[in-house]
Amino acid sequence: MVMPRPLVAGNWKMNGLRADGVALSRAVAAIDNVDCDVLICPPATLLTEIAASIAGSPVALGAQDCHAEAKGAHTGDVSAEMLKDAGCRFVIVGHSERRANHGETDAQVRAKAEAAHRAGLVAVVCLGETGQERDEGKTIAVVTRQLGESVPAAATAANTVIAYEPVWAIGTGRTPTLAEIAEVHGRIRAELSARFRDGAEIRILYGGSVNARNAAEILRISDVNGALVGGASLDAQSFLAICRSAV
Ligand code: PGA
Repeated sequence: MVMPRPLVAGNWKMNGLRADGVALSRAVAAIDNVDCDVLICPPATLLTEIAASIAGSPVALGAQDCHAEAKGAHTGDVSAEMLKDAGCRFVIVGHSERRANHGETDAQVRAKAEAAHRAGLVAVVCLGETGQERDEGKTIAVVTRQLGESVPAAATAANTVIAYEPVWAIGTGRTPTLAEIAEVHGRIRAELSARFRDGAEIRILYGGSVNARNAAEILRISDVNGALVGGASLDAQSFLAICRSAV
């Protein structure tokens, strides 16, 4: 079995105007000698400009969401094909903020991941339990359901990345224990291996309050194949330190 190469992804969320965003992308693109793949996901308005600013660097470009359709009467939406055309290689789908703020269901998330595949993008499919679900002992049940219903049948290690992000850990400075992360990632790995031919090689990222101090120990957990980083990805030094923690 080939060990997946780690992926460290920065999710900028709704942050960044042109000047700051391009400067941040340039600082990240200066990275070299890291043992991981590096991805930044700026807001849609900056994609084209940042595609140019990171061209020729080892850093890949991704978007934060896409519509399931390729084109049509969907005011305000952006299709996976448009993202590909703007220079993206990846798109995040099913982030908990989309699930919560826009009521996205597992079926909609799966349709978006299928759209990503149709357009030739890698789908980063996000999963994770709320604090209440964890307190009620439902973490494994929720994550297993989301995995089963949000990940397309045609997922492969080349076109899909899973991101486990406990909702209560996002932006809070709180993280699960290393054992709790290991338990969920182990379960996700077992499900992926049972369902997909190369499921053992599909990358599983951990996300939720990853920072330069806790990244190394989180990234050493088996079946943690990288990180999806929000707040700490807005600071080039923190994000680069997290990338350097990946081995
Ligand atoms: P955070 O966000 O690192 O700020 O907790 C992670 C995410 O939402 O992807």
